Amino acid sequence: MIWMKSLFYIVAASIIAFSPAIAVSETLSVDTANVSAVFSDDSGSWELIHVGAKIISATDAATLAWRASLGGNWFAQRRPAAYSTYGDKALNRGFNYFGGLQATHADGCATTSLKAEGFERIDEGKDVAHIVLKHKDRDYPFKVRQHFRAFADCDIIETWVEIENGESGSVRLGRMDSFAIDLPNPGSPLHLLSVVGQWAAEAQVSEIEIPRGQTVTIGSRGGIRDAWDANPAFMLSIGGRADETSGRVFGGALCWTGVWGASVQRDACDFVEIRAGVDASHGAYVLDAGKKMVLPKFAFTWSEQGKGQVSRNLHRWARLHHLPNGMKLRPVLLNSWEGSFFDFTEKTLHDMMDGAAEMGVEMFVLDDGWFGRGRYARNEKNRETAGLGDWYVNKEKLPHGLDGLAAEAKNRGLGFGLWLEPEMANTNSWLYYEHPEWVLSEKRRPLYAGRGKSQVVLDLVNPIVRDNLLAQITAIFAEAPDIKYIKWDANADFMNIGSHYLDDAHQMNMPFDYTMSLYDLLWQIRERYATVDIQACASGGGHADYGFLAYADEFWGSDISDAAERVFIQWGESLFYPAQCIAAHVTKVPNHITKRITPLKYRFDVAMSGRLGIELHPGEMTAEELVFAKQCIAGYKRIRPVVQQGDLYRLVSPYGGTHAALMYVNEDATRSVIFVYGLAWNDLRDFPAPIPVRGLSEKRRYVIRELNMVNGKTHSPAVDTAVGGAAMMAMGLPVKLSGDYDSAVFELVAVPDGISGDR
Ligand code: GLA
Repeated sequence: MIWMKSLFYIVAASIIAFSPAIAVSETLSVDTANVSAVFSDDSGSWELIHVGAKIISATDAATLAWRASLGGNWFAQRRPAAYSTYGDKALNRGFNYFGGLQATHADGCATTSLKAEGFERIDEGKDVAHIVLKHKDRDYPFKVRQHFRAFADCDIIETWVEIENGESGSVRLGRMDSFAIDLPNPGSPLHLLSVVGQWAAEAQVSEIEIPRGQTVTIGSRGGIRDAWDANPAFMLSIGGRADETSGRVFGGALCWTGVWGASVQRDACDFVEIRAGVDASHGAYVLDAGKKMVLPKFAFTWSEQGKGQVSRNLHRWARLHHLPNGMKLRPVLLNSWEGSFFDFTEKTLHDMMDGAAEMGVEMFVLDDGWFGRGRYARNEKNRETAGLGDWYVNKEKLPHGLDGLAAEAKNRGLGFGLWLEPEMANTNSWLYYEHPEWVLSEKRRPLYAGRGKSQVVLDLVNPIVRDNLLAQITAIFAEAPDIKYIKWDANADFMNIGSHYLDDAHQMNMPFDYTMSLYDLLWQIRERYATVDIQACASGGGHADYGFLAYADEFWGSDISDAAERVFIQWGESLFYPAQCIAAHVTKVPNHITKRITPLKYRFDVAMSGRLGIELHPGEMTAEELVFAKQCIAGYKRIRPVVQQGDLYRLVSPYGGTHAALMYVNEDATRSVIFVYGLAWNDLRDFPAPIPVRGLSEKRRYVIRELNMVNGKTHSPAVDTAVGGAAMMAMGLPVKLSGDYDSAVFELVAVPDGISGDR
């Protein structure tokens, strides 16, 4: 009986696919240069019948689309939903238990079955294809508008959904993914790569094969340091584990700074479901009658050339379409934190600024410890236990105020930046003293405090709290209009799950509404101070996500600044984020966390593959070190456009090897930079295999120079020669490292008129 139903289904599906008589349906696609997503509504629901490599004709996809049951099994009959919903029976023969959307309707019905209600094209010019698939529940006035926005120039498709509750009562959303698709039999094995970690150990690469019948889930429920435990981005290798240059890879990043989850399920019949979105497993979101909500973007891509291409696509998209000022070069800055921690006076800061511009530094950033008043002032004695929430300068410590400091910086040829932690308060603060109801708290439970046993999170959902913060931040800019940079920190997660502002019925809206409110605040600041750079920080790399990066220019890579650890962390972050966003600073040794001692050259070489900065007291450096630092910064400024705006090629992984290497190549392949980092010493390390080279022009010749040399010592016999790109890509670059923490940086510049077909 079952096989007969199955046969009927195959035949019926074929008729639908081939019969022009039933061709009332739509097949449409959004395409980039190399990626297509194709949709069809011929079953009455919107299906995603292809996502992957570019196809020329959408009707080909309709012909080839998988419409049969898998393995002849009636129970496995599912069609590829464009937006999979819990309880759907139209696309699933049986019941969709997965479902990226779970809505409990006003009458208590917990399932959703969406039918297609046409589509809309939004005209954004020839390089962007933007369509909106319109869905409506078959039995409820509940609508979903699903956006797909494809960028031709970077092979990225952004997708997100809007949900509209037209019912007479509230709908509760137990799952509310931005992206939830079903793929029949895309090919196995499947490997999921994510970058995971914790404080001072962010972005460690983790990859696993997804066994048949299992689901692998990543996510973060902390609500604020959303990118710590796992970063909201992943790559899925399809049909074998991809490497940097080969293999099919689906890659995506969720643009969200709050509670999130993503998972890939491979069922026993090799039916694959991929979802990513806001996580509501702590409690359903209540969407009131007549209300709409917009869920965050998920940006995805597809590569037929391995993981490297996924990264390059995301980086390019970030620069061209997502970051607020993606094509602006990021400054070299000196941040006060590791140079003085909380222990500074005005003089300490002036001393730190002295000579910084001569070294090449462009901006001085004052970190934690400058604010609060009276008994709640933040200073070297109470350190992290007081002052958060009171964003006015501590005049006892800094008698000439922020404007005084900004002027001192300006006099020395430096811009001025400031650390803020706006989402937080200390219980030892005037803000908390006056408004204890402004912090997140639980009704009957004692307030739990984090850092310094006194740090709590402000209830940003409350507009009065946001207004207060905006007013305080505006006053800071009024006092010191020369502020050019904000380091936006956040050193806690949701510890008390409750909002005074929300009523009982809407308490579980807090996590989602908090992040939306944070964006509202960031947006207002960005609107007012459009030229100010913002760094996203949350106890290190906890805000390394594309949600925050819609408002910020960069993120702090990690509180661990030990270069040997940073090789791994920056490698992991580079999988999804471009170098210009990864703040990497040279700090003093022994490192304050690991106690490891690495050479100054190694520290510069590692930091220069990201957004270079310095975080030490220049007054503590020797004359020799100052000269070396000046040479490194001058070199960085020359290679900065290549590193910050070029294409990244990861050449040698630090995982399991003796060294790591990566390179950047500019748009027209006339300039490139190669970084090589020794890791643990090993007998063979004196002669590592030639460093593979990629991305150059086969027709050009390049002069190879070495940067950051100590005593003129080169690391490659090819330095100061001109070599053809084809030869370098064929043979690699010979590099010799010796001893612990040796490293090398090479700059490749195409010889003018060096284009030739015969070399
Ligand atoms: C966090 C940040 C650091 C520093 C301190 C200040 O840990 O990640 O860079 O700003 O806070 O308290």
